[in-house]
Amino acid sequence: MNMEKKGIFYGSTTGNTETVAKQLAQKLSIDESDVMEIGSATPTLFLSYDVLLLGSSTWGVGDLQDDWEGFISDMESMNLSDKKVAVFGTGDSSSYSDTFCDAIGIIAKAAEAAGAQLIGNQVDPTEYEYDDSAALVDGCFCGLPIDEDNEYQKTDERIDNWVKQLKQSLS
Ligand SMILES: Cc1cc2nc3c(=O)[nH]c(=O)nc-3n(C[C@H](O)[C@H](O)[C@H](O)COP(=O)(O)O)c2cc1C
Repeated sequence: MNMEKKGIFYGSTTGNTETVAKQLAQKLSIDESDVMEIGSATPTLFLSYDVLLLGSSTWGVGDLQDDWEGFISDMESMNLSDKKVAVFGTGDSSSYSDTFCDAIGIIAKAAEAAGAQLIGNQVDPTEYEYDDSAALVDGCFCGLPIDEDNEYQKTDERIDNWVKQLKQSLS
């Protein structure tokens, strides 16, 4: 049974988050046409999905990727109470160790405030080396952090583990 309509929306400046989005789509059998840049998303399209996988890299010092800056306030005013939301992101745990993948935390909080059920929000932070992150909630990362700058060799395994976790919350 595969009843829930799943969509992936991502913001990516140099392509890292886009690559992760495409890998997730492949592993979750999500059609390419359901993988979209958040910069060209409309609220109507966004709300047409039951399960939303939302991806953003972190820029500045702990900021959302630019395309998300335009959409996050729209999202905050939506009613997402019938949606499952999973958040993923890319960051640099070496150069930006105090704000590692903060965007994950920003998007997850906005989705929860809009009523969404967060899934994939139990990621073990002991597998990462960093000093602080806004994605830390109750001792876990509330989404999937990926570090293509320093730990690209861990990316496949991290994605696989997360996909297993997600599948337990999907129908
Ligand atoms: C100017 C600059 C600022 C950055 N700030 C952060 C940050 O605060 N936290 C973080 O985890 N990564 C930070 N990064 C790293 C990027 O998020 C990382 O390279 C990411 O993979 C880029 O993904 P994208 O190509 O999908 O945009 C920064 C990178 C640059 C060049």
